[in-house]
Parts: sequence; structure tokens; C-alpha cells
Amino acid sequence: MTFHHLMLFLHLLGVTVWVGGMAFAWGCLRPAAMALPPAQRLALWAAVLRTFFALVWAAIGLILLSGISMLLEVGMAGAPKAWHLMALTGAVMIAVFVSIWFGPWRALRAAVAREDWAQGAIAMQRIRARVAFNLALGIATIALATLGLGW
Ligand code: HEM
Repeated sequence: MTFHHLMLFLHLLGVTVWVGGMAFAWGCLRPAAMALPPAQRLALWAAVLRTFFALVWAAIGLILLSGISMLLEVGMAGAPKAWHLMALTGAVMIAVFVSIWFGPWRALRAAVAREDWAQGAIAMQRIRARVAFNLALGIATIALATLGLGW
């Protein structure tokens, strides 16, 4: 096993947790949670996202550290075009996550704490839209990182 193999493993571990978690939230938990009354639904999302978002921070750390170290092995100039594009779309995904963290995620926690379900529903709708965007971009990034190597 080389250092590169270890970095690739950590990179894909981070990607699996982040993109897989978004797919589960969007495709499995969201449809089931829609059947609940607002108070229960928003409290459930606040509890689930608290754990998931902590995992996403860890995944971002792994993805960035491993991705940058693999890029530095060959240098930006020597890297395939697909790697450049991955770094770009990955950076957009991180920016979107940071915008969720400091925006609607804070609003959702505050609304749930004061049992303001109307504001909570608005915050949750914003989180949902941005997670859907990041899920689509995450899938596109995986396609770029793999299928894009043939360009
Ligand atoms: C944000 C900065 C990122 C950087 C600097 C980066 C960099 C890299 C590099 C240099 C490799 C090449 C490993 C190799 O081919 O041996 C790689 C592989 C890979 N990356 Fe990223 N990456 C980033 C983000 C992401 C994100 C957000 C995803 C997915 C959502 C992703 C998915 C992948 C996949 C699936 C591979 C394996 C394909 C391959 O071996 O080429 N990366 N990444």
C-alpha cells in the first residue's frame, strides 16, 4: 500500500459518508418524515441533522486533506483536467454546506427550541433545497472524478 492508496481510501470514505448520507436523507428519511405532524417532523430533522452535519464536517476534513495531498503529488499543472474540475465542484459543495450551517441550520435549531413550527418549516425547506443541490453536485462530481478521466 502506498501513501497515495491511503489518501484515496480516506478521500472515498469521506465522499461515501457525505454523498451517501445526503442520498439517505433525501430518498429515504424525507418521504417517511413527511407523514409526521410538523412538531414531530421538525424535532426529528433537528436531531438527525445534528449528528449528520457533525459527520459532514469530518468528511470535509478528510476529503480536503486527502484531495489536496494527492493533487500536490503531481502539482496542479500536471493534474488531469478532471481533477481540476473535481476540486472546483468540491469547493462549491463545501461552500453550500457552510451556507447551510450558518444559515437555515441555525434558524431551524432556534425555531425548534422556541416551538415556532412555521419558521422551522421555512428553515427546513431551505435546508432541503440546498441538500438536494449538493446531492446532485456530489453525484456529478463522482461522475467527473471517474468518467471524466477519459477526457
Ligand atoms: C474539494 C476538493 C477535492 C480535491 C482537491 C480532490 C482531489 C482528488 C484527487 C487528486 C483524486 C485523484 C486520486 C487518483 O486518481 O488516484 C481524487 C479522486 C476522487 N475524488 Fe476527489 N477531490 C475533491 C473533492 C471531491 C468530492 C467533493 C468528491 C465527490 C463528491 C470527490 C470524488 C472523488 C472520487 C470518486 C475519486 C476517485 C476517482 C479517481 O481515482 O480518480 N472528490 N480527488
